[in-house]
Amino acid sequence: MADGFISDDDIQKVREASDIVAVFSERVPVKQRGRDFWCCCPIHQEKTPSCKIDPALQLWHCFGCGEGGDIFAFLMKADGLTFRESVIKLAERAHIPISYGNGKPTGADGSYKARLKAVCKEAADFYHLQLMRSASDGAAKARAYLSGRGLGGQIPKTWNLGYAPGGGMLVRHLMQKGFSGKELIDANVAVAGRDNKVRDRFYERVMFPICDVQGEPIAFGGRIMGQGQPKYLNSQETPIFHKSTVLYGLHLAKNAMASTGVAIVVEGYTDVIALAEAGVKNVVATLGTALTMQHIRTLSSHAKNRIVYLFDGDEAGQRAADRALGFIDSSMTPEAGRKRIDLCAVTLPDNLDPADFVGQRGVEELRALIDGAKPLLSYGIERRLAAHDLSRAEGRAAAVTEALQVLAPIKDSLLAKDYAIQIASRTRTREEDVLAQLARLKAPRPVQSRDWGTDEQVKGNGAKEASAALPEGQAPVRANAQSTHGASQVSASEINRRRFERQLLCLFAQNPSVALSFCSTLAQTRWHDALHGRIADAMLEYFTEHPDCKAAQLISAVQNEIPEAGNMLTSSFESSDAAPDALALYLSEELSIGDLDDTIAELRAQLKDVNALSAEEYDQLFQTVVVLQKDLNERRKTHQVSSFASSS
Ligand code: UTP
Ligand code: MN
Repeated sequence: MADGFISDDDIQKVREASDIVAVFSERVPVKQRGRDFWCCCPIHQEKTPSCKIDPALQLWHCFGCGEGGDIFAFLMKADGLTFRESVIKLAERAHIPISYGNGKPTGADGSYKARLKAVCKEAADFYHLQLMRSASDGAAKARAYLSGRGLGGQIPKTWNLGYAPGGGMLVRHLMQKGFSGKELIDANVAVAGRDNKVRDRFYERVMFPICDVQGEPIAFGGRIMGQGQPKYLNSQETPIFHKSTVLYGLHLAKNAMASTGVAIVVEGYTDVIALAEAGVKNVVATLGTALTMQHIRTLSSHAKNRIVYLFDGDEAGQRAADRALGFIDSSMTPEAGRKRIDLCAVTLPDNLDPADFVGQRGVEELRALIDGAKPLLSYGIERRLAAHDLSRAEGRAAAVTEALQVLAPIKDSLLAKDYAIQIASRTRTREEDVLAQLARLKAPRPVQSRDWGTDEQVKGNGAKEASAALPEGQAPVRANAQSTHGASQVSASEINRRRFERQLLCLFAQNPSVALSFCSTLAQTRWHDALHGRIADAMLEYFTEHPDCKAAQLISAVQNEIPEAGNMLTSSFESSDAAPDALALYLSEELSIGDLDDTIAELRAQLKDVNALSAEEYDQLFQTVVVLQKDLNERRKTHQVSSFASSS
């Protein structure tokens, strides 16, 4: 029964029985320095220790590779385990018996997330039954639609496809099963209409359930039958569904990924189904978003050798390809050692998507295409070279410049030099000139923001415009932090602001009892970094059920929700003599002063637009600004005094 639900209690027991220093010591030599322990990081290759272990907090962080977290996160990262697997492994190590539940806690013992999962499970069953059994016209149309697209036979069963009739049928069904309106809305299978009526979210659509890696439904994509907008309506982010971490079809693909060592990434739900049905089973899709670093991490834990990204031949696919070039960084060079990522790419010809391609040309040709996929670096260089007329001198010069840009993030590596020499020969340019130009390149923005960013870019009409607005070659994964500022450089004060946000969140994560008295800060701060906002939400949510939690528990819970959070939240350890509550007070005041400053700036901007306001409105707004400004000035004064106090 090793696939049942593991209770929080058991997880906590395992955590308490597993000393983090001991677990590290079993793998690498660990030395004590002061109250902390240090070792060479077991995750990346290094000769001098830069990995710190804090036995009091039961946390670790490597200042070399930036990874960090609690003891479970360590096993997940070091051994490529899932959270569950790491709990089980440590339970065995500590001889703690685990009592597996039935996998679907729905009663009072289950957490709220388990309730939301139960909602999705019931909804998926309902939609599926509608598709298979309902005599309604809509269901008949859905069946005809699917078989007309070659998605009939066993396919609806294998992929648990469904039909959403709409008209409140799902809401009635789930309420009869004892779910509340709030639960339906929070799971995003229903929405609150006017007069607070709870309505179905999906109407007359063919439903593709999106599952977690265990195969439990957590969200849906609903396709319109025929023309119309949006073509796919997807679940929004919910507490159990984060687009930037989930991959469609992973639960059915993971075994094939493990046995072949290869993961194939496509853009569409139907592409996944078409390929898998044609025998290419190691395939997943992103959910209308660009591939993110979390996706890559997940995939490389299932497929040890290679990730192949298949881009649609249409324009949107080409834009996705350009964005993917933003993934290039030092993790793709041989210097990355064990952490090296082998990400390959190929574009489908003739405007086809993978499903069309298999249909028209057959699976053998597709396999050949996949086998011929080039490493992302060469793929990117080829794309840039192909965009220019190499028979003309101007074309060659432009081609060299653009192709070299692809190498900017790794400009100092040997690999970059190899590629530069290839570029020289392809463009019949002197090697020395190309190498000199390579040396003059500026490396792009720091990689760190990339790891902490997420991309919610949706492939659809609006999104096509949104992504076209991104500067050429700019990866949204990296651009996230700057997204509200366009391509301009981030100002020093903005960098400071984000640093303060990060510092405060680290402090909270490591001192949950302090954080508990700053819930309003967590809830009300206007986080400048979207990731920080998500972390704050996740903390608040965890506090509602676990007000007495310890640091490692809190960080683990947040990390389960937002994988990149663990590295960040362990990235600064408090020195033991700092008073965390005083520091928290200082930082939270800093943020709230910043927010007030922003609010005043917004109001002032409104005041400038005299024509938009009546005389009365203008007066009122003006008074408000005066009062707020006075308040701000006073708070600044006290704040400065307290900063002198805390630094003395
Ligand atoms: P495509 O437009 O290529 O759709 O979008 P598709 O998968 O080939 O769909 P069919 O075959 O026409 O039914 C690829 C993916 O982008 C997301 C979906 O995840 C889709 O599978 N998408 C697309 C949306 O989320 N919303 C949209 O409106 C369109
Ligand atoms: Mn497509």
